[in-house]
Amino acid sequence: MKRTFLITLLSLFILQATRAEEGMWLPSLIGKTKIKEMQALGLKLSADDLYSLNQKSLKDAIVNFSGCTAEIISDKGLILTNHHCGYGQIQKHSSVEHDYLTNGFWAMNRAEELPNEGLSVKILIKMEDVTEQMLKGVKPNIDDAKRTKVMTKNRESIIKKATKDNHYTASIEAMYYANQYFLFTYEVFKDVRLVAAPPSSIGKFGGDTDNWMWPRHTGDFSMFRIYVDKDNKPAVYSKDNVPYTPKNSLTISTKGVKPGDFSMVYGYPGRTKEYITSDEVRYVIEMSNPHKINLRTLRLEVMNNYQEKDAAVRIMYSAKNASCSNAWKKWQGEAKGLRRLGVVAEKQAYEAQFAAWAKVQSNEEYMSLLPSLQGLYKELEPYQFAMDYYNEAYRPIELLKMASTLSVKSAKDIDAMRKKVNSFYKDYYLPIDIETSKRLMSEYSKNVSSEFKPKVLVDNSGDISKWIDGIFTTSIFSSKERVLELLDKDIDTINDIVKADIAYLVAQEFEDIYKDKLKYKVADINKQISENYTTYMRGIMEMQPDRVFYPDANSTLRVAFGTVEGFNAADAVHYAHQSTIEGIMEKDNPEIYDYDVPQKLRDIYNTKDYGRWAVNGTIPVAFIASNHTTGGNSGSPVINGDGELIGLNFDRCWESTMSDMRYDRDLCRNIAVDIRYVLFLLDKYAGAGYLLEEMKIN
Ligand code: ARG
Ligand code: GLU
Repeated sequence: MKRTFLITLLSLFILQATRAEEGMWLPSLIGKTKIKEMQALGLKLSADDLYSLNQKSLKDAIVNFSGCTAEIISDKGLILTNHHCGYGQIQKHSSVEHDYLTNGFWAMNRAEELPNEGLSVKILIKMEDVTEQMLKGVKPNIDDAKRTKVMTKNRESIIKKATKDNHYTASIEAMYYANQYFLFTYEVFKDVRLVAAPPSSIGKFGGDTDNWMWPRHTGDFSMFRIYVDKDNKPAVYSKDNVPYTPKNSLTISTKGVKPGDFSMVYGYPGRTKEYITSDEVRYVIEMSNPHKINLRTLRLEVMNNYQEKDAAVRIMYSAKNASCSNAWKKWQGEAKGLRRLGVVAEKQAYEAQFAAWAKVQSNEEYMSLLPSLQGLYKELEPYQFAMDYYNEAYRPIELLKMASTLSVKSAKDIDAMRKKVNSFYKDYYLPIDIETSKRLMSEYSKNVSSEFKPKVLVDNSGDISKWIDGIFTTSIFSSKERVLELLDKDIDTINDIVKADIAYLVAQEFEDIYKDKLKYKVADINKQISENYTTYMRGIMEMQPDRVFYPDANSTLRVAFGTVEGFNAADAVHYAHQSTIEGIMEKDNPEIYDYDVPQKLRDIYNTKDYGRWAVNGTIPVAFIASNHTTGGNSGSPVINGDGELIGLNFDRCWESTMSDMRYDRDLCRNIAVDIRYVLFLLDKYAGAGYLLEEMKIN
């Protein structure tokens, strides 16, 4: 009797799986899901202030910035995002002569703002539940092919209707593993110009040494401006375009933050996997992350080595290095965090509970679910492992990638290729690629089972270094000039020469393995896994009818909320919630690239020339809060209880990086640049105080 009681108690405890402040919520449903909890924590706004179709709301000021988030901060279309989100654009405008990465860029007037070909941003018009329409005509026992056909047709007609007689684009995204569907309608803007970026020694201060870590002192911001035609409608770049007049823009608060203050992050989180089973978590911890980390360590060693030696190479590989290093470091923290919280065991306990519940319900479908998922993961593992190597050991080889992309069918293709070739070789350094190839191919040869190894690799496994040297000396793709010369020839000759090139042939062997043995197999197993998750998700929702579930992040607009707060990172380690300029100066070291503070900032610090931005004799730089965020949330506004902008989200703490699979209220903190640091830099460092005049500052 006592035992049963204990078990019930224990299961109740496990069942309460949503932790307060966990989750990334759909703004249109916030009135039904979380608004009361948010208000209890200090939010003074209503659900309609966050999201509304009838009145202007905060959503109108949130911008999807190609993989990141940005927000509108003036009625002249000025938008704010992270330095690392604008990095690609800043780098593209940079050369050794105009090194905006090193020196920063501040347009001193509209005419100086720099257009960015290919960059577009979008703003959500509305989101709506279209589950019913999507499932129209899907009968209970419909077969797979027919279901896909019906749903594709439904999807097309919903989108067609949403984009009829307007200039919007629309997409439909599945929520809760396809238990629900939402339609998202956007306005897309194509003329987006660079307005401001601090030097990397501010915008990327701490670099990859401090990345994913607190305490942090990065001024990780950049500014752009949306331009439109004379009717305030999106248009491609034209010098006649004018600044966008938005529906709404954020008011900035300079009141600052203190522990316990309400905060929310409003943006576009990319991808989370909160509901996966223990098998997938185990694969991540034991296999995928360790191998992927090792492969990236090898690449980073090579890049760092050459970048340190040569300023031109440093610029060429800066964006590549940053993106390689970013996931590399995150995966390490993630595996550590998942272990620390015992997530595999925790998930197993939850699964045991689900199985027991399903049995009590005598629900055959639910009862067979977990064994089925287990079987599928087991089947997937060898293929997934080979796929990890295809992605992380073959694809990063730049020469092979170039060789397999060059193919032309018409004269127009040749022109497009010429452009592509020029931009590829602008940021290409042969010694890095050669050495990286040798290292990656050795790992591929050592770790991947022979079933997934191309013959050319097996044949050359005795001397990989010699083999790679051979490829690079023979292939025309080692030389930009030779590739451009080739493009002067006729279409047939071009294709003949490419198809006989050694780099093309080697790439082809890897691509064949991918096509013949991996692509369809992995997709097929994953499709079955997803279908199982559709049922599992429905099942756990039935098992816990009182729990409010949030859909995993999928690059759609979300709200996360929490409080500004420090945390205990480990035994005897407590972190405060706020960092200041004092910390920048503590880290300052001209000998260390990541910590070389620009002289002008040192001067301002030494003379304490802080003007109106001083707070208790110093300058606040960054703060942390318990908002549940992920990649894609970079650049998202951090908003206070009054709906005002207090910071700019840019990272998570090292101890939090497992939150894509398991959020923990005590450990998970997002990191934001304090908006007052941004304003201080614009005003005192850059002398671009004129930008403040178009902002609403409280
Ligand atoms: N970790 C942050 C994010 O995931 C910042 C990345 C900036 N890049 C870097 N390599 N330091 O995007
Ligand atoms: N830096 C990440 C990004 O670029 C956001 C931080 C996170 O992953 O939480 O989106």
